[in-house]
Amino acid sequence: MGVYGDHVLPRLIDVACGLQAVEPLRRRVCDGLAGDVVEIGFGSGLNVPFYPAAVSRVAAVEPADVGWKLAAKRLAATSVPVERSGLDGQSLPFADGSFDAALSTWTLCTIPDVAAALREVRRVLKPGGTLRFVEHGLAPDEGVRRWQHRLEPVQKKVFGGCHLTRPVVELLTAAGFEITELDVFYEEGTPKFLGADSLGAAVSPR
Ligand SMILES: C[S@@+](CC[C@H](N)C(=O)[O-])C[C@H]1O[C@@H](n2cnc3c(N)ncnc32)[C@H](O)[C@@H]1O
Repeated sequence: MGVYGDHVLPRLIDVACGLQAVEPLRRRVCDGLAGDVVEIGFGSGLNVPFYPAAVSRVAAVEPADVGWKLAAKRLAATSVPVERSGLDGQSLPFADGSFDAALSTWTLCTIPDVAAALREVRRVLKPGGTLRFVEHGLAPDEGVRRWQHRLEPVQKKVFGGCHLTRPVVELLTAAGFEITELDVFYEEGTPKFLGADSLGAAVSPR
């Protein structure tokens, strides 16, 4: 990816995504995780402090080596075993039905083939398993959407392919998930074009 993508961007993401203001969202999305969990787009491990004690292990999927290195201090402070187990959410190196739950936070915006990634998450979840998610995407309001379409090309260039206009709930349902919990809102303190979030849970049907 080059110096910017490999070294600068993971550090930028660590700072931008590590703001204290989003910690309550991380706590909410991680609440309810239990058993064996796969986290796609693990980044620098900003969710690690919020894994509940009921989580028995986490398989972290993350392409950025620097992200994984930046996670070291968080990994040292948790009792939950976390292993970097994959590099690409579009092709997960796990057997079918390996996990009780999956976690994705502000990652579906960036994975190039997001439909393939969601198919993979469904494949590796046990039937009845849950994907917990908080993702930014296409805003509910037309005025904000217009800005999202205008700004998306710049956003993609600066933030490693991050899209602003992905319709999170539609993508999940198209992949066959059943949404069981959903909150759609604008993140406080974030411009609306960037902070149109969907937080919830989606079950892979039995
Ligand atoms: C905006 S960051 C979010 C990081 C982390 N989930 C968080 O909440 O802090 C998006 C992450 O997706 C990762 N990513 C990009 N392409 C990916 C892929 N194909 N599979 C898995 N993760 C990917 C990036 O390296 C980055 O760490």
